[in-house]
Amino acid sequence: MAKRKIIIDCDPGQDDAINLLLAFAATDELDILGVTTVAGNVPLELTERNARLICDIAGRDDVCVYAGCSRPMVRALITAEKVHGTTGIDGIEITPPSRPLESRHAVDFIINSTLNAIDGPVTLVPTGPLSNIAIAIVKEPSILDNVDQIVLMGGAMREGGNYSPSAEFNMLVDPHAAHVVFECGRPIVVFGLDVTHQLLATRERIERIRALSTRAATATAGMLDFFNRHDTEKYKSGGAPLHDPCTVAYLLKPDLFECKDCNISVEIHSELTIGHTAVDFWGVTGKDSNAMWAYDVDADGFYDLLVEYLGRY
Ligand code: BDR
Ligand code: CA
Repeated sequence: MAKRKIIIDCDPGQDDAINLLLAFAATDELDILGVTTVAGNVPLELTERNARLICDIAGRDDVCVYAGCSRPMVRALITAEKVHGTTGIDGIEITPPSRPLESRHAVDFIINSTLNAIDGPVTLVPTGPLSNIAIAIVKEPSILDNVDQIVLMGGAMREGGNYSPSAEFNMLVDPHAAHVVFECGRPIVVFGLDVTHQLLATRERIERIRALSTRAATATAGMLDFFNRHDTEKYKSGGAPLHDPCTVAYLLKPDLFECKDCNISVEIHSELTIGHTAVDFWGVTGKDSNAMWAYDVDADGFYDLLVEYLGRY
């Protein structure tokens, strides 16, 4: 079977990093055209450094990393060191990455590699603020003809927001970019807090990963240890929610998730609720659906998948 061509656009972030490790292990299933990074959890110079370091940990010196937008389209950048630590990936040892950063801007890489992918369409997999993806769409709208799906982490419906009462972090950081993406007309699959809050990294699950003893698994367990400190206090739960790996888990095993076609719009006008994802779950607006909203997940199956792939290293 032909491998699925993907571009992962991210802001590592422990959960972005674990998503990369999951994707990098899927060598039979995924053809990773490149990894692009954006400012989000930490500033751009750290997200691109972190992505390159994760390539080292995974032994994937064939994967190129491109840096993109250092700020959102309209608003000032918000970062999340209080969740992710000052490095963005606290919990592992930070060493200088062995591979250089590519010189091309991430937006131009997304445009060129999507337009030039002649033997099959490209799936975009954003797990951070959507600045790079939106600007690529605005700069060269014809890329959408060769995008089969956008599979993204962001938004919230039943869970409410995690960075404002109304908004999830990725949507809050660049709501205008999210608006462009949700209006783009291509199929979108959306993993918001309603599912990610079901995927708790409990002590037992972390120890199961650590026991694999591969470099990637040890790094994952270390990052989850750190992630847990903040989130178990915030949510009074048995473990931190694991957000971004929903995207690649879906590409590898879509049956893990229950999804529903919905119309989703992003609030960009109200200062109070900016970044809110209005998910028309019950079809009350009569508007056509523009996305598949994930609302339920087989959490044990998800962690089984993560363990299986981290065990491949
Ligand atoms: C999202 O925000 C970031 O903190 C995580 O990396 C994830 O992409 C969760 O709201
Ligand atoms: Ca992220």
